[in-house]
Amino acid sequence: MTRIGFAYNQKPEPSPATGGDAAQASAADAIALGDEEPPSSRPDDEFAEWDSATTIAAVADALSALGTVVRLEATPDFPERLRAEQARGLDIVFNMTEGLRGVNREAHVPAICEFFGVPYSGSDPFTLSLCLDKARTKEALAYHEVPTAPFGVVRDLSDLAALLGRRSVERAASGGRRGSNSRGSLDARRSALGFPLFVKPVHEGSSKGITEKNYCETAEELERQVAFLLETYRQPVLVEEFLPGREFTCAVLGNGARARVLPIVGINFGALPAGALPVYGFEAKWVWDRPDNPLEMFECPAVVDAGLRRAIEDVTLRAYRALGCRDWSRVDVRLDADGVPNVVEVNPLPGILPDPADNSCFPKAARAAGMSYEQLIQRCLVLAAERQGVALAGGYYQSRPTPGARSAIDEAEHPPLAASH
Ligand SMILES: Nc1ncnc2c1ncn2[C@@H]1O[C@H](COP(=O)(O)OP(=O)(O)OP(=O)(O)O)[C@@H](O)[C@H]1O
Ligand SMILES: [Mg+2]
Repeated sequence: MTRIGFAYNQKPEPSPATGGDAAQASAADAIALGDEEPPSSRPDDEFAEWDSATTIAAVADALSALGTVVRLEATPDFPERLRAEQARGLDIVFNMTEGLRGVNREAHVPAICEFFGVPYSGSDPFTLSLCLDKARTKEALAYHEVPTAPFGVVRDLSDLAALLGRRSVERAASGGRRGSNSRGSLDARRSALGFPLFVKPVHEGSSKGITEKNYCETAEELERQVAFLLETYRQPVLVEEFLPGREFTCAVLGNGARARVLPIVGINFGALPAGALPVYGFEAKWVWDRPDNPLEMFECPAVVDAGLRRAIEDVTLRAYRALGCRDWSRVDVRLDADGVPNVVEVNPLPGILPDPADNSCFPKAARAAGMSYEQLIQRCLVLAAERQGVALAGGYYQSRPTPGARSAIDEAEHPPLAASH
C-alpha cells in the first residue's frame, strides 16, 4: 500500500483568552486605519497563512483515496518524524506547509524532504523562496520579458530620494507599451516610475500589510505609507506603478508542455463598498467580506473575449515556467492602462479552502473545470508522482484511464477551449 506523508501547518484555534473573532476584527480595524502602529501592537497575523483543521482534514481525506495518509505536522520535530516514517517506507509527501519563520519559510519542508531524498509535491525550495520575494520574482519575470508593473525596492526611507529622483529603478517589460523598454537589456529598462504608485511589504502574502493606504498619488503619501510599512513589517517595501485595469487570478495545473490554466477567476470590484479602490487587499478580504455579509467578489469563468483570455493564459503560463513552478500554482494578473495583462505575483502554494462558501480561488477554478475538491488534491499528488516516477495506490500512475474515456481530471489537464470558458 502506498504511504503518503502529509505535511501541513495547522492554525492555532482562537481561544477566549486571545480574543478570537473580536481580536481579528480589532486587528483588521487597526491595520485598516494604517496609523503609525508601533511594532509591539502589530496585528496578530503571524499564523494567517496556516491552514484550519477543516482544510487539513479535507485534504487528508482526498489523499486517502491514493494510499495510507501519514500526518506530518510541520512542528520542530518534523525532520526526525519524517526520517522515522521514511524508514517505515514513505513513497511521497504532499506538501502544503507555509512555514513560520523567515523569508525562506515556505522552502523549509521541501528542503528537508530533499535532504532525506523523499519525493514531495509542488515547487522546489528555490521557487518557493523566490516567489516569497515579490521583487526578486519581478526581476526574474522582467528578465524573461513577462509583463509586470515597473517597480523599485525601498530598504530604508533614504532610498526614496533616489526613487523619487528617478534613478536606480527597475522598469520591467510591459508588453511592448513602452517601446524600446520592452526589449533589450535590463539596463535599458532602468527609468522613471510614474504615479499613482502601489506599495507592499516584499515578503508577505494573504494581503498582510496591503490596505487602501498603499495606493499613493503623491510623494508625501508614498513617504508616509512606506515609513509605516518599513516600521511595522521590518522588511523592504516594493514600490510599483499602479495597474489600473481588471484583475484576474489563474490556477495552473501540470508540468512542462502539459501545464494548463483552469478557468480564469475574475475579481469583481463592483462588489466592494461605494468609493472603495479596486484593490483586492486586506479590507476586501478580511474586513468588508464577512460571513454575515458575503461579497460577490468573483466570477468564474471570468467574462473575457477570446483574445484577452489567450493573453491572460499566455502571461500566466510564461510566469509559471519562468519561475520554475511545478504541479500547481496560482498566478495573480492585472491589466495595465493599455489592457495588457501583467503578472502581480505568483503563489506556488495556493490557498485551498474546501468549503465553496469560503470562495477559495483554486478550488473554485477546479470546480468550473468539472473537478471536485478531492479530484483537485489527488491530481496535484498524481502530477508530483508522475514527475518523480512514484507509483500510487489503485494503479493511479501505472495505468492511466482507458484511452478515449476523458475524466474530469483529464478535462482539466487538457481543457477543451469551448468548455473551459
Ligand atoms: N501594482 C499593482 N497595481 C494595482 N493593484 C495592485 C498592484 N499590486 C497589488 N495590487 C492589489 O493588491 C492586491 C494584493 O497584492 P498581492 O497579490 O501582491 O498580495 P498578497 O497579499 O500576496 O495576495 P494573496 O492574498 O493573493 O497572497 C492585488 O490582488 C491587487 O488588487
Ligand atoms: Mg495576491
